[in-house]
Amino acid sequence: MQNLQLTADVRLRHLITLAGLPRAVVERLLDRAEAMRRDSDGGARPLDLLAGRTLINLFFEPSTRTRTSFDLAAQRLGALVINFDIERSSTVKGESLLDTIHTLEAMHCDAFVVRHKESGTPETIARNLRSDAAVLNAGDGSHAHPTQGLLDAFTLRRRIEDFPRLSVVICGDILHSRVARSDVDVLRTLGVRDLRLCAPPELLPESNSGAFAQCSFVSSLDEAVAGCDAVIMLRLQKERMEAAAIPSEADYFARYGLTRARLARAKPGCVVMHPGPINRNVEIADDVADGAQSLILEQVANGVFARMAVLAELLERR
Ligand code: CP
Repeated sequence: MQNLQLTADVRLRHLITLAGLPRAVVERLLDRAEAMRRDSDGGARPLDLLAGRTLINLFFEPSTRTRTSFDLAAQRLGALVINFDIERSSTVKGESLLDTIHTLEAMHCDAFVVRHKESGTPETIARNLRSDAAVLNAGDGSHAHPTQGLLDAFTLRRRIEDFPRLSVVICGDILHSRVARSDVDVLRTLGVRDLRLCAPPELLPESNSGAFAQCSFVSSLDEAVAGCDAVIMLRLQKERMEAAAIPSEADYFARYGLTRARLARAKPGCVVMHPGPINRNVEIADDVADGAQSLILEQVANGVFARMAVLAELLERR
C-alpha cells in the first residue's frame, strides 16, 4: 500500500488508509491543517492554491459531513468541484465502476473522492487509473476513513498535545467502524499508548486482528472511561449489521450510552468526540453531545481544514 500511497520522496500520491503512513507525513498534514485554518481566516478567506484543478466527489453511500467538507475544502482552495450524481448517472444503466472512472478521466480531472460500501474500492480505483489523478478514500466499508482519522487527531491535538500520556476510549460499533480503525491507526502513529476499546461482544472485532492488536478491550463503559482524557463514541451502523446485533436501543444506551454520570468518571476536562451522524440517546445523551466537553461540532469545522491540507498535499505540485 505504501508504494501506492507515497511517492519515492515520501509525498502523498493517493490517500487510501492511515495504516502505515509515516509519522512525518501525518504531522505534516496536521501542521498544514493548522496553517489552512490560520491562512484562510477560519474559512472566511478563500485561497487559490488549487486554481485550475478539478475534483470529482463520487459518493456511493450517503454523507453529510465528508462530502460537504471535501466540496468546501476544494472550493476554498480554488478548485472546481463536480458532485457526481450516482442516482442520475449511467451507473443505474449498469455501467461498471471502472468504466465510469475511465469515462470521467477522459474529461480530465485531478482527483476522485470516493465513498463506497465495499472495503477496498478506493484502492481498486487507484490501481486501475489511466491518468495521474489522485484517489482520496472518503470511507470504504469497514476498512478506513482516513480524513476522519486526520480530523479527529487534529481536533484532539489542538486541545491536548502530550499524546504519549493520553488515555483514549473508543466506544460503540467497533466491528463495523472504519472511523475506529483510522482513529487507532493515526493515534498509534502519533504516540498514544493507552487505547481502550469498549463495545458489546457482538460488536467487537477479534482482539488480535489488524489495527486493534495493541488496544485493550474493556467490556464496561464505566470501567473504560475511568481516568481517561478523551472518549470517542461511534454510531451504531445498522446498515452493516446482518441481523439485530443488539437487543434494543434502550438496553444499548443503558449499557454503552455516554451519560453525564459516566463522563464524571473520566478526568476533569475529558473531551467527547463522535464522527457523526449521532443517534441521540442511543450512543450519547443529549446533554453530553451538546455539553461543554463535546468537540463534535469542532470536529466538523476542523474537517474542512484537514481536507484542505490533504488536497493541497496531493494536488498542488501536479
Ligand atoms: N463522519 C462522517 O463520515 O459523516 P458523514 O457520513 O455525514 O460524511
